[in-house]
Amino acid sequence: MEQKLYLYPVWLRIWHWANAVLFLLLLFTGLSLQYSSVEFSFIDFDLAVTMHNVSGIVITIAYFMFLFGNRFSSNGRFYKAKRKGYILDLMVQIKYYIYGIFVHQKTPFPVTENRKFNPLQKLSYVASMYFLLPILILSGFALIFPEMIIKNVFGVSGIHITGLVHITTGFALSVFLFIHVYFCTIGKTPLSNFKSMINGWH
Ligand code: HEM
Repeated sequence: MEQKLYLYPVWLRIWHWANAVLFLLLLFTGLSLQYSSVEFSFIDFDLAVTMHNVSGIVITIAYFMFLFGNRFSSNGRFYKAKRKGYILDLMVQIKYYIYGIFVHQKTPFPVTENRKFNPLQKLSYVASMYFLLPILILSGFALIFPEMIIKNVFGVSGIHITGLVHITTGFALSVFLFIHVYFCTIGKTPLSNFKSMINGWH
């Protein structure tokens, strides 16, 4: 019988669901701002700006909670890079998702007390939480305070470049979100990972 493991402490679950709701709010208001015109907008322009800015500030506070939690609790150990043999492990995991899973092979990296994430999960979580999200937050704050941005970079407007960086990382994280939610359905049952993120137990 599989052992029950408590892998999602309360602070992590609060952060995660707050982060998910705020991210979706940012995505919808961001898309509305991007595609609004004088004649039409999905959400009233001024309201979308306010909602986007407020959600951006709150998700930043939540992000610091995540950083603090991972720094000072044992959850941080799951994000530590393992250099030796990592690429090989990653290949094994990718091969499993491409082939093994369809012929009912056993998962190559089952969840244990010391290994919550498989190598692909680890890569995607580290990339999204320690690379993409900080860029999204920093570029977002720069756009709230545009006087901070360098005016001209080799003849191109600094605000324009910052906007481009913000939209591109927002897009990349939205792609991550789709893939993330899909992969979360690949558990013991399609809902088991979602239940774990609600009650804390794997
Ligand atoms: C509707 C939105 C979302 C749903 C339904 C969802 C669902 C889940 C579930 C079920 C888990 C636990 C399974 C696992 O360990 O992989 C999880 C973990 C995680 N999710 Fe999400 N997620 C959502 C949005 C997001 C977003 C927007 C981000 C980041 C930008 C994110 C980052 C993470 C991270 C880093 C973990 C691992 C946390 C840890 O155990 O340390 N999620 N998510």
